[in-house]
Amino acid sequence: MDAIHQPVLLDEVIASLAPADGGIYVDGNLGLGGHAERILEQSAPGGRLIGFDWDAEAMARARQRLARFGDRIRYIHRNFTALEETLMEQGVRHIDGLLLDLGLSSLQLDRSGRGFSFRGEEPLDMRMDKRQGLTAAGLLNTKNQQELADIFYYYGEERQARPIAEAVVEARRRQPLCTTAQLVEVVERAVPRRFHPRKIHVATKVFQALRIAVNQELENLQTVLAAGPRWLAVGGRFCVISFHSLEDRLVKRAFQENPLLRVVTSKPIVPGEAECSRNPRARSAKLRVAVRVESQA
Ligand SMILES: C[S@@+](CC[C@H](N)C(=O)[O-])C[C@H]1O[C@@H](n2cnc3c(N)ncnc32)[C@H](O)[C@@H]1O
Repeated sequence: MDAIHQPVLLDEVIASLAPADGGIYVDGNLGLGGHAERILEQSAPGGRLIGFDWDAEAMARARQRLARFGDRIRYIHRNFTALEETLMEQGVRHIDGLLLDLGLSSLQLDRSGRGFSFRGEEPLDMRMDKRQGLTAAGLLNTKNQQELADIFYYYGEERQARPIAEAVVEARRRQPLCTTAQLVEVVERAVPRRFHPRKIHVATKVFQALRIAVNQELENLQTVLAAGPRWLAVGGRFCVISFHSLEDRLVKRAFQENPLLRVVTSKPIVPGEAECSRNPRARSAKLRVAVRVESQA
């Protein structure tokens, strides 16, 4: 088993999704296959899983881990926004559950060498799917100051967005920004000491913002939130684990506003203290669940 990414809220996801023999489930974020493994175990012997991941490395690891499930699992190396065309290609008309476990795996964060973390020195890439065009460096070195400030403000909820954007533009005049260490230095200098946050690194939000922008994470989430409910069988569950308020707000609203869904979790399910101390990455996780109902129309 791969010990470097622990699936978040695993028992809660399984209780909410209630995988059963013969069901068809979609995991939009296969990652290292932690949730998928449990879904396949619980839905044995006849349950099937269609697993998406756009990161080739994650997909290769998931394949290894899940090999024993044979053709009960289909691996889809695509953006989960391709849900509808994929289900059509697979000849699937309805699914019994859809799980999204958004964001990054620990493998990507700590070991990918793609610049997701502000620790160490790595190229400023941040693409989860290496087939995509624009890297974080590309974005930082080409967007104008206002566009950069908007990215930092809207995707990072960074209050110091303007001075940081100004400092980026100033720094890149001397030399293009290529590494995480260069960016960290620019942010540290741009934000006056008294505004450095106490609990998180001063560059945390800028890194989050760039990652969201590079991977178009919020747009992708909106697409699958709109498409998913149409493919769920009545009684099928839609479970989403998000890791920051921008995502959680989109999930909450999409669930509330979709007439095909009834919200199961009026408040999101969050990990207990034991899970958070075992797995610090779980700390910001929120699980929302909705169930597909008959169309009101
Ligand atoms: C938090 S990890 C999932 C971990 C997984 N649930 C497990 O237990 O191992 C998120 C994964 O989703 C993938 N991902 C993020 N956004 C995606 C998207 N729009 N389409 C496909 N995969 C995506 C990432 O590459 C990453 O591997």
